[in-house]
Amino acid sequence: MEIIILPTPDHVACYGADLCEALIRAKPTAVLGLATGSTPLALYNELIKRYQQQRLSFSQIITFNLDEYVGISANHHQSYHYYMKTRLFDFIDINPANTHIPCGDVENVYHAAICYEQQIQNKGGIDLQLLGIGRNGHIGFNEPTSSLNSITRVKALTRATQADNQRFFDAIEQQPTHAITMGIKTILQAKQLLLLATGVNKARAVKAMIEGPVCAMCPASCLQLHQYATIVLDQQAASELTMRDYYQFAKQASDTFSTQYVDLGQ
Ligand code: GLP
Repeated sequence: MEIIILPTPDHVACYGADLCEALIRAKPTAVLGLATGSTPLALYNELIKRYQQQRLSFSQIITFNLDEYVGISANHHQSYHYYMKTRLFDFIDINPANTHIPCGDVENVYHAAICYEQQIQNKGGIDLQLLGIGRNGHIGFNEPTSSLNSITRVKALTRATQADNQRFFDAIEQQPTHAITMGIKTILQAKQLLLLATGVNKARAVKAMIEGPVCAMCPASCLQLHQYATIVLDQQAASELTMRDYYQFAKQASDTFSTQYVDLGQ
């Protein structure tokens, strides 16, 4: 795992956008895994800005979102379909036919989940999966005790996650209790993982993810098993890390080495 600790949430967003930009430049047909929540919003704004500056084109990019609530329609203002449309897709040159989000308002959501997993495989898998983290350590909607070998499926949301998301819904009866989510195995199969976390309310989950054991009680700890996982944190999210100084030292050292490597290659 590469742990990057930056001063502010804006720095985190720019660093994340740099990684996305590097991938899109190297592979204009890349498959991007996208996330929702408040954390990636600044990154999406940065990508929109770079598109407007004609630095980036998404015209051939394919996307797969991590998850969607069960039981609310795509045009509900709290659906992740609506979120993606109004926060990113409407502002870039992406082909809507290339965007994929699980369907949570169909009759058979179990079948929809299986089809979604298949669609990801059919496109050759995900090149870079963007992730946030829940306060209880969830990624996507893989709540604590999710199987580390899980694929896309329907998950019941914990009371803690429902409470965290309640602020977005007008009435309690409208709030979904279940979601379709990529599984942990699905996420681990992406070629590269990029998890962003900002704010002090994520500090405990971040510590468990990076420095705790790999375990189903902290689904994000599965990132320890991935070969190319980058975790980008602001100072507050990193505040409970025991080996914080080491991560900063390691990053500076690797920057130096990569410069030397480029120089040696000339
Ligand atoms: C939801 C999403 C997750 C997201 C999490 C944290 O549960 N399913 O993908 O990481 O919220 O959201 P926020 O970034 O708003 O803290």
